[in-house]
Amino acid sequence: MSSNRRSFLKNITLSTGALATSLNLEANENSFVSTHASFNMCGYAAPKLPTVRVGIVGLGMRGPGAVDRLSYIEGVEIKALCDKYADRVEKAQSILTKKGLPAAKSYSGEEGWKALCESNDIDLVYVTTPWHLHTPISVYAMKNGKHAASEVPAAKTIDECWELVETSEKTKKHMMMLENCCYDFFELLTLNMARNGLFGEIVHAEGAYIHDLTKDYLFNKNAYADMWRLKENMTRNGSLYPTHGLGPIAQCMNINRGDKFDYLVSMSSNDFTMGSMANELASKDDFFKPYANKSYRGNMNTTVIKTNHGKTLMVQHDVSTIRPYSRIHLVSGTKGAAQKWPGPEKIALGHGWMKPEEQKQLQEKYTLPIVKHIGEIAKNVGGHGGMDFIMDWRLIDCLRNGLPLDQDVYDAASWTSAGLLSEVSLKKRSSSVDMPDFTRGAWQSNKPHDLTLNGGGNTGVRSVSK
Ligand SMILES: NC(=O)c1ccc[n+]([C@@H]2O[C@H](COP(=O)([O-])OP(=O)(O)OC[C@H]3O[C@@H](n4cnc5c(N)ncnc54)[C@H](O)[C@@H]3O)[C@@H](O)[C@H]2O)c1
Repeated sequence: MSSNRRSFLKNITLSTGALATSLNLEANENSFVSTHASFNMCGYAAPKLPTVRVGIVGLGMRGPGAVDRLSYIEGVEIKALCDKYADRVEKAQSILTKKGLPAAKSYSGEEGWKALCESNDIDLVYVTTPWHLHTPISVYAMKNGKHAASEVPAAKTIDECWELVETSEKTKKHMMMLENCCYDFFELLTLNMARNGLFGEIVHAEGAYIHDLTKDYLFNKNAYADMWRLKENMTRNGSLYPTHGLGPIAQCMNINRGDKFDYLVSMSSNDFTMGSMANELASKDDFFKPYANKSYRGNMNTTVIKTNHGKTLMVQHDVSTIRPYSRIHLVSGTKGAAQKWPGPEKIALGHGWMKPEEQKQLQEKYTLPIVKHIGEIAKNVGGHGGMDFIMDWRLIDCLRNGLPLDQDVYDAASWTSAGLLSEVSLKKRSSSVDMPDFTRGAWQSNKPHDLTLNGGGNTGVRSVSK
């Protein structure tokens, strides 16, 4: 943390006394403009790494998929696997050995990730753990000379967001939040259309994470390790998981690269499902007793962000009511609009949605080079219909060719901060909350990320049998 921010926090603590909670401190911290950046990581090209040696931490439901996907990419060596639980590491090793690839070094225990980060045979630490470990592991990785790629969201507090930014700038190591939804097919199409001005000036956009996780995941004893995600929903209130909806629309609106988030307001419904589910389960099974008679986060959170250029973004979060899956993905401008959910995917360049055949022609014209190059292979490898593999391939291709990454640490921090600050707004009866400028002014001159494959595109895909 910079010394200026430290002293600011000290002042707040003194003025509010012992009643100051960490969230209150963060709320006040937001209006504070941090010291100058020591280096601008936007557009930063790290030295080329012809072979990218990867260590993966967190081998629950998400991590083994990453092991599988990365093992297809030429120029990747999976050197280390780590989980708190040793049996999960051994299970993930079999993904490699079944494909005839060398076994990785195994790390386990609560702090096994520290030794992994310290080892000298890794270039990239890929983090797929519960949320509270994303920043500690990413920061430790960068301090130990590794690039960091972390699952979403990147951090649990605004101070952690700053720690990521400051560490990335100081170490000149990339910190990418693995926002895979930015690489979904329609999202990439609308990004290219937005860049080419088809929607005119984008005025408003909407995103969401609406996905009923209750029965199969949150309240399933065999899903999230140590029930971490249920605990998050039990101890916090707000938009806990904003970036799947927010990342793609923030890119369409050039956030941190021409515009930036200015302030937000947030409102949540009450909880109408999780508390009663917990009580009912606890009445039959003692395992659920610690989760009974607790107050859970409101089912539906709606957060609205205003940008410095006067545009609005709306993000919703609901993982606990029965409703078909949606990330909305609405982009609405002065000349046109696009919307992904509810399907079918739609584009309008006038008052009505386009006819499918017209839309197909537009799609062909605006399909990005990355999709033409790797889209079909990605669909075969899999991972949320292919977007996960497009993301991993692009990350590795950029590292191998010394190209800037599509998502930098400022994106990770600002997209994540929207969720963290929704919690602050809720505590103040939905009052507006200023959003920090993690770029410290550089957003005015930072350039949008490159949508070509120029300088790269030469990373092959192995034909390893599944
Ligand atoms: N981008 C996406 O589409 C997507 C999808 C699913 C999950 N996720 C994210 O992936 C992450 C993991 O989610 P998940 O569903 O796999 O959860 P999970 O609980 O199944 O897996 C987490 C793993 O981390 C391990 N872990 C816990 N503490 C650890 C420690 N100290 N050291 C090493 N390992 C530790 C656990 O044992 C577990 O195996 C979360 O951040 C989640 O938000 C992202």
